[in-house]
Amino acid sequence: MTLLNKGCNKHTFDPSPTPIDNDQIQSPVIFLDHMKTVVIGLLGTVMDKRGKGVKRWNSWRPTIGIFMQDDLLVDRVELLHDDRDERLANNVGADIESLSPDTEVGLHRIKFKDPWDFEHVYSTLLDFVERYPFKPEEERYLIHITTGTHVAQICWFLLCEANYIPGALLQTSPGRGDKSVAGNYHIIDLDLSKYDAISSRFKRQQLEGTEFLKSGIATRNSRFNSMIQQIERVAIRSPAPILITGPTGAGKSQLARKIYELKNMRGLVQGEFVAVNCATLRGDSAMSALFGHSRGAFTGAQSARKGLLTKAHQGLLFLDEIGELGLDEQAMLLHAIEEKTFYPVGSDNPVLSDFQLIAGTNRDLQKQVQEGSFREDLLARINLWSYQLPGLKDRREDIEPNLEFELQKAEQQLSHKVSFNKTARERFLAFANQPDSLWSGNFRDLNAAVQRMATLSDGGRINETTVKEECERLQRFWHHTQAAGSLPALEEVLSGEQIEDIDLFDQYQLRQVIAICRDSRTMSDAGRQLFNRSRLKKSSSNDSHRLRQYLTKFGLSFEDLQD
Ligand SMILES: Nc1ncnc2c1ncn2[C@@H]1O[C@H](COP(=O)(O)OP(=O)(O)O)[C@@H](O)[C@H]1O
Ligand SMILES: [Mg+2]
Repeated sequence: MTLLNKGCNKHTFDPSPTPIDNDQIQSPVIFLDHMKTVVIGLLGTVMDKRGKGVKRWNSWRPTIGIFMQDDLLVDRVELLHDDRDERLANNVGADIESLSPDTEVGLHRIKFKDPWDFEHVYSTLLDFVERYPFKPEEERYLIHITTGTHVAQICWFLLCEANYIPGALLQTSPGRGDKSVAGNYHIIDLDLSKYDAISSRFKRQQLEGTEFLKSGIATRNSRFNSMIQQIERVAIRSPAPILITGPTGAGKSQLARKIYELKNMRGLVQGEFVAVNCATLRGDSAMSALFGHSRGAFTGAQSARKGLLTKAHQGLLFLDEIGELGLDEQAMLLHAIEEKTFYPVGSDNPVLSDFQLIAGTNRDLQKQVQEGSFREDLLARINLWSYQLPGLKDRREDIEPNLEFELQKAEQQLSHKVSFNKTARERFLAFANQPDSLWSGNFRDLNAAVQRMATLSDGGRINETTVKEECERLQRFWHHTQAAGSLPALEEVLSGEQIEDIDLFDQYQLRQVIAICRDSRTMSDAGRQLFNRSRLKKSSSNDSHRLRQYLTKFGLSFEDLQD
């Protein structure tokens, strides 16, 4: 494909058309369906400009030529022009109207500070197309690439290739003989699958503070938002340890990394981000992985090793699943945090490391302290600032903005636009918000769902069938994980005597109900989940009341079941 004429730096329009592979060209084309045809293009400041005199009709003008084609009927044209060229745009618009009275002419002022600056032109055109109300089901779009600089031509190509514009390219060229004024045209339909190798560029947004911590996702859950605001303040103002708790996939690891990046951007840490999952540190090697060892410290220690704490000097150490750390390692860690020094395995010489600490866990550390598997003094040291990240089912209002975010991520991975059709989107969101949609893997589930739908959809347009299949898949998955997860034992809430009185049938049911109550913040949340079907059929009006009655039968209350 030789459409992009690299290295061309002429400042005027080059009338010799750039060569195009013949198999890309489909011209002339007569459209027989009922779709409207819309041409979008830049005003040509050189070739479209031939004065106001009658002589202008004797020369080929690329934009005007489009409306002289017998087999190309254009319902609307959108002509983009710089502020400076307002008069020319009006004149060209008037000429189009005189040639083709049925064509609607839209003139759009844009600011082209430097039409030869790639980034500027790309983002200006991207801004325009992002705001443009494309209706690909009703209208066919042809992007006129002959006018404007070669930079603009390349940008149009990239935008079409990445499916930001659901259209084809339109190239016009001067003609000979009786075609000399009208010229010729070619429609180039980029078959996306052929160009996967050309990855498109995405502008990287510079985000500030809380926006940065939230990856620019406009979240709506007020508790989550105020928590992030506080984390931002703490991250900027304090080097003290931070503890992040929350279920798997709630974003603990990601938040830790973002905090590091924010601190780093503000010059608050100079060293590295060192992350380790403590569940992977087992046995003897755990000490040496964290604190290093001296040469000959144990059999096999042929050379000294530095350890993760040293690596994190002047940086940030993220200890994920800190509850998995052994008691000896906990003691050493506490010493290292308090004194900023520690002893590598087999060494009498203290090593200095000044690092900031973020700990993550899915476990209840308080409970671990009671059970003796976590040091109370270490917990006191690390939970000065402790934040519990809610799971997705506790911030369902954020599913929609996160869905947008996931779609953008999928676009970057697949290098083309990904979107839902209207009904498909509504269906997916309705499903996502249902009380029995558990989102047990939280963002991991949402991420995987969007990935699958984006990949399975043709041309990046997700339809209802794809959504339906994905919802069924998620339901099955959650059902399995729930079934596989062990249910609480009745002994945890009832005495042996009480249990003996309950039929086995009821015992199973009660255990499941307890599990759901424990997992819900309020009784109505639990009720909604348990009576989801009758609720839909409107055969039950008060889920909380029904749940309370059920629990009372066994001498239990919702509050009893909350930890
Ligand atoms: N706030 C968030 N919004 C959207 N996606 C997120 C968010 N936090 C994390 N993710 C994504 O969800 C997945 C799981 O996040 P992670 O931080 O590894 O969770 P955890 O450590 O709590 O198990 C990752 O793919 C991550 O990119
Ligand atoms: Mg994690």
